[in-house]
Amino acid sequence: MLEEIKGLIKEAEQFSAKNIDEIEKFRIKFLGKKGEITKLFSEFRNIPAEQKKDFGQTINTLKNIVIEKITSLKNNLEDTQQQQVSLDLSMSGDNIELGTRHPISIVKNEITDIFSRVGFIVSEGPEIEDDWHVFSGLNFPKEHPARDMQDTFFIEKDPDILLRTHTSSVQVRVMETQKPPIRTILPGRVFRNEAISARAHCIFHQVEGLYIDENVSFADLKQTLLYFAREMFGKDTKIRLRPSYFPFTEPSAEMDVTCKICGGKGCNVCKYTGWLEVLGCGMVDPNVLESNNIDSEKYTGFAFGMGVERLAMLKYQINDLRLYFENDVRFLRQFKAAF
Ligand code: DAH
Repeated sequence: MLEEIKGLIKEAEQFSAKNIDEIEKFRIKFLGKKGEITKLFSEFRNIPAEQKKDFGQTINTLKNIVIEKITSLKNNLEDTQQQQVSLDLSMSGDNIELGTRHPISIVKNEITDIFSRVGFIVSEGPEIEDDWHVFSGLNFPKEHPARDMQDTFFIEKDPDILLRTHTSSVQVRVMETQKPPIRTILPGRVFRNEAISARAHCIFHQVEGLYIDENVSFADLKQTLLYFAREMFGKDTKIRLRPSYFPFTEPSAEMDVTCKICGGKGCNVCKYTGWLEVLGCGMVDPNVLESNNIDSEKYTGFAFGMGVERLAMLKYQINDLRLYFENDVRFLRQFKAAF
């Protein structure tokens, strides 16, 4: 008799069901009015007295196992039914919206791409610099007022450790590690201690260019910049070079391009002049070549530097610099990147 009950226990333990009908059949088989457990209890009076305790306990074990089995099978079934509702594999997927590149990255990539098509390779340098790379190596004499053109964030004084105020510092890094011919484009982030407003920011981006070889002339500079202006602003763009001053170039100039917005007729973007200032440039000062161990009798070079925010402002007609750094998705979403 006991053996028979143990057999039923095993059967109950091993039982599994695919649906509610099978569970119900299982319940009736064991717990129904004419089920196995009722039958076993009705045998109870025929059991010898000394076996009654054992017999009773084993039937109770069987009963408990059956009840537990039914509850757990029902729970499992409910879970899988719920999953089937939330996990419909035949449904089409959610659309994942593509992100957009930041306008500064788009314009920076566009600039480096234009120059790489004529053989300039990209180099980069550190944002935390020393006095030599940002000023002294670029022919800024100590105490010279030209240093005040760029309000500097100092990290340490004597020896000076500072955040670079322009990417011209990377020119020095390139010259100290490479021999001419050098033809490189230097994009990067720069820092100046300025109050943040629509027209000024303490962080912005520049792209610098440097070309050093034998017989490099101002005509080469002008032609390279004309090529750049036409690629960047359109085929019929004109440029003009106005004399200027930078310690690291001689002669120095600032380049304007014809205003793309009004076509040169005059509008509020070009302040009714028809021209937009886009970059600074010049022939590398022989002092800069010499202090970087490049023979200024043999080699000449040109350099230029431009602000990426400014070019992006002109390209997309953005009128507030702060928008670039606030990461407002309503602003950023408007730039479907080409690069
Ligand atoms: N470093 C200058 C600035 O931040 C820009 C510049 C001017 C870079 C003339 C040059 C250059 O390489 O030749 O205002």
